[in-house]
Amino acid sequence: MGATRKRELVGAASKARRAAVAPYSKFKVGAALLTRRGEIVTGANVESASYGLTCCAERVALFNALTSGKKNFVAVAIVARAPGGPMPCGACRQLLAEYAPDALVWVADSRALNVVKEFSVKELLPAAFLEVPASAK
Ligand code: THU
Repeated sequence: MGATRKRELVGAASKARRAAVAPYSKFKVGAALLTRRGEIVTGANVESASYGLTCCAERVALFNALTSGKKNFVAVAIVARAPGGPMPCGACRQLLAEYAPDALVWVADSRALNVVKEFSVKELLPAAFLEVPASAK
């Protein structure tokens, strides 16, 4: 993937981060998905007073994209004020494994957007559960 695409997607995640609703943790996260067609779809975390109903930026971006009819994700960028960049939680890794299995995952600290770490979804969630076995149906 080109350096320009990477910079653009990280920039989109950084911009999306501004819309985070994180009154409890104060930890604002932005995410941006890139489709094979070159479309970018973003999201930011939204927290709940119940804490448990909080939705991470990655899932908000993914649900936003999927419910806009987008698919074939080639990369996802995640930005937060976190040393080395924010690593996606287990729940988001599961959803990425299901809906963006071939995507590259780029993470960056909001204070150093030019330093981007790269992972694959498969390395972040090896041996993922992907479907209910046919024998159960
Ligand atoms: N969070 C994300 O949005 N993405 C991550 O990758 C890690 C955690 C959010 C959830 C919650 O609003 C806050 O960060 C603190 O956990």
